[in-house]
Amino acid sequence: MDENLIYKPRQFDLSGLNGISDQTLEMHFKLYEGYVKETNNLSEKIAAILADGKVDQEEMPAYSELTRRLGFEYNGMVLHEYYFENMKKGSTTTDPDKASAFSKAAESSFGSYDIWKADFVGVGKMRGVGWAICYQNPANGRLSNHWISLHETGNVSGFAPVLVMDVWEHAFLLEYKPAERPKYIEAFFSNIDWDACEQRLVKDVGNKAGA
Ligand SMILES: [Fe+2]
Repeated sequence: MDENLIYKPRQFDLSGLNGISDQTLEMHFKLYEGYVKETNNLSEKIAAILADGKVDQEEMPAYSELTRRLGFEYNGMVLHEYYFENMKKGSTTTDPDKASAFSKAAESSFGSYDIWKADFVGVGKMRGVGWAICYQNPANGRLSNHWISLHETGNVSGFAPVLVMDVWEHAFLLEYKPAERPKYIEAFFSNIDWDACEQRLVKDVGNKAGA
């Protein structure tokens, strides 16, 4: 494989967030690096099976298991990148500007930004291991909030992730008890980089092929 297509962990300068310690971040970056490494490992192992141009019958069990794990590792990698990328240090706000494109999209999709937020926070509080993600449908610009089990179950193909919140307990366990997830969600909102979210909004709504 082309050397440029091998994934390398990205670096994020987030030290000093509100309510999420540097210790948590360091541990979280290490976990993220594990997903990058495993994505590369799985790809390499699958490529080795394909090296002779076919998947032999006796290779099917190993090939199937590797391929099933690929969605978990790939999503584990990219969701962490979205998550780290939509936070910034030094934030003094919790909500986007009322006149911003995000607020307007939330309003047209949910009736108001506050209702969008109640839904997103509600999704984040759901019991289970996973993520809360606000997606945008590129066909019509509509925002919708989704619960993702683990990393891979519940993502909507082709939708653009706009705001991604990790609610696995490793994201907050050093600061908050498992039952204190709402406090972590509050801390997360005080660190959101709304400009980064805005940049993810689809620029040419309705112009995607097949829309
Ligand atoms: Fe995580």
